Amino acid sequence: MEKIDNKVCNIIIDNSYKNFEENLKKQGNYDLVLIISDSNVYNSQGHEFIKHINARIVYEYIVSPGEDSKSLDTYEKIIEYCVRINLSRKSVIIALGGGVVGDLAGYVASTYMRGIDVIQVPTSLLAQVDSSIGGKTGINIGNFKNIVGTFYQPKFTYINVDSLKTLSEDEFLSGMSEVIKYSIIYDYEFIDYLIGNSESIINRESDKLYYIVKKCASIKAKVVEADEKEGGFRKILNFGHTFGHGVEKLCHISHGEAVSIGMNMAFKMALREGFIKEEYCNKFLEVCEKYSLPMNFENADEEEVLNIMKSDKKNSFSKINLVLPVGLGEVEVINTISEEKILGIIKESKNA
Ligand code: GLY
Repeated sequence: MEKIDNKVCNIIIDNSYKNFEENLKKQGNYDLVLIISDSNVYNSQGHEFIKHINARIVYEYIVSPGEDSKSLDTYEKIIEYCVRINLSRKSVIIALGGGVVGDLAGYVASTYMRGIDVIQVPTSLLAQVDSSIGGKTGINIGNFKNIVGTFYQPKFTYINVDSLKTLSEDEFLSGMSEVIKYSIIYDYEFIDYLIGNSESIINRESDKLYYIVKKCASIKAKVVEADEKEGGFRKILNFGHTFGHGVEKLCHISHGEAVSIGMNMAFKMALREGFIKEEYCNKFLEVCEKYSLPMNFENADEEEVLNIMKSDKKNSFSKINLVLPVGLGEVEVINTISEEKILGIIKESKNA
């Protein structure tokens, strides 16, 4: 077990759940524990996880897997359940699952009785390296993703990297796009590690999983510590997400796949603008190929992709904020690129 602690984040990395209780106890004496999870995660991890919680009253609320659970309707049902079981300010919510569960449970915890403690126990690669760290919570309203939410730090994030072994191949590989993201935004040497060790990472060898999750969680914690409420610097974490946002919604692909397509568009744009050299683009394509990540989209109208990008809540003064590579392991937020140029890149990225 290792800890990554700073002024904002408190992360524990482990390869089982066996040290969970010890860390829970340190937070105080909770009267009730409510585990929020989804049925897939709960069936594969729930039993093992609960074994490691001692002598407390434990309730569970299980939602359907998928983005549709991040809704006002599910939120309301969970709140009603919290009231029914007498969840109090002395209770704790544990989010056991991927990004959807983490965002939803975090939002419930941050608003129920004006805020009760929450602990994140991420089980997907995407959640372990990104969404469970840094305190963003949210639900979707209609087509607007995370339009309602809070910044609310979990008491701690407990990462059991071994839980990644039960993920489907597709889910694991799509999470690799978030891992690759960290090499582009912060740590160029990490890209060589990801290329050189791709076989053992894909085979989910324990030491490799531990290494990559720890590396990404440490970078995320540093970025969040520097800019908790996303005034500026934290925006670098959105690399690939602005372009990806449109295709994710329209093409019904996973978040990770959308991010890899979005990162590719950002690379194309940066090359076109002369911010980076072709060799860097090729290196990016090489690492994505190792993890079978998609580079282009299909079955969506290019103008509609642009319209969704324009509605992104992270834009300001009606300008699209693009996070673009500007050097090896370095990105910048740029909002001076015209819509016409952006549309041009979207068009180039559509499979005929
Ligand atoms: N997922 C991006 C962030 O936490 O800021």
